[in-house]
Amino acid sequence: MADSKQRILIQLDSSPHASVFDAVTAIDAGADRLLQYGGIEPDQVRELIHGAMFTRGLDELKNTAVFVGGPSVEASERILEAVKHSFFGPFRVSVLFDANGANTTASAAVLAAERECGGSLKDVPVAVMGATGPVGHRVARLLCGLGARVAVGSRSRDRAAALAESLDQTLGARAEPFAADDLAQVLGGRAVVIAAGAAGVRLMPRDLWRGLESLKVIIDLNAVPPLGVEGVEATDKSTSKGNVKAWGALGVGGLKMKIHKRSIQELFTSNDKVLDVEQVLEIGRRLEPPPLIPRS
Ligand SMILES: NC(=O)c1ccc[n+]([C@@H]2O[C@H](COP(=O)([O-])OP(=O)(O)OC[C@H]3O[C@@H](n4cnc5c(N)ncnc54)[C@H](OP(=O)(O)O)[C@@H]3O)[C@@H](O)[C@H]2O)c1
Repeated sequence: MADSKQRILIQLDSSPHASVFDAVTAIDAGADRLLQYGGIEPDQVRELIHGAMFTRGLDELKNTAVFVGGPSVEASERILEAVKHSFFGPFRVSVLFDANGANTTASAAVLAAERECGGSLKDVPVAVMGATGPVGHRVARLLCGLGARVAVGSRSRDRAAALAESLDQTLGARAEPFAADDLAQVLGGRAVVIAAGAAGVRLMPRDLWRGLESLKVIIDLNAVPPLGVEGVEATDKSTSKGNVKAWGALGVGGLKMKIHKRSIQELFTSNDKVLDVEQVLEIGRRLEPPPLIPRS
């Protein structure tokens, strides 16, 4: 009886101790057992994954899955690559990548924006502030994939340009780079602003966005005062501020947690899933479908 097997989640984390946040979320999502490995280097992954692949029959492998986390997205991306390279033929287990919470957070932010825009972000002009961080990068990647007109911001024009270049190379998408000093000009004509700056850093004062006619949605992912956007509260969740619908970090965080848990549950439905940000977005969309009727 394949489904009588316990659901085992193997946590691979680049930091010395595997994340407690990720562990608690996995248990709450229904994992029966966690096997936690911290301080993981890519060259240690193969042996661990083979231990996962070769212990249960093929029809039972969907009950074993891998979660790749950790505070450094770059380090965890190398772990994910090593995980994928360990698989061959039908011998594989499903894997979710959510280092730094970046995939689930970015997916929740983009879904909130999509919902506020009537169910589609195609051709919608969006500015992403703090776009060079792990969360902002994935927000920009998702937005480009959905056909939005994306501007990516950084304190450094060079870093913004490098991000735009990498989006072009990986997705063939044209994002417009901007420096934080030019934010006022970039905001003109934008319908959506997503602030993905570092915790405790204000990126946009109230005066810059209040009264902007084109602006319909602001999403601020920073929960640590001072918040990223002056005038948006952490608890805002589709809160009206004049013409603008505002979402704060805790407002988005509720959806992020639902997406995180559902993504864990999805791992245990087959043994061949690789859930990166695009797949996580789709899981979130199935969780809370956007409205069918566009807003005028
Ligand atoms: N709600 C949730 O569930 C949730 C989950 C995860 C993360 N978060 C939040 O999401 C936000 C983004 O996370 P992250 O890990 O991607 O952030 P991060 O890497 O710490 O910072 C993002 C970007 O902010 C800019 N930045 C850093 N220090 C700054 C400063 N002093 N002044 C102005 N800009 C500065 C940097 O861009 P440049 O150097 O290029 O300017 C950096 O790439 C954070 O506020 C985080 O707390 C929320």
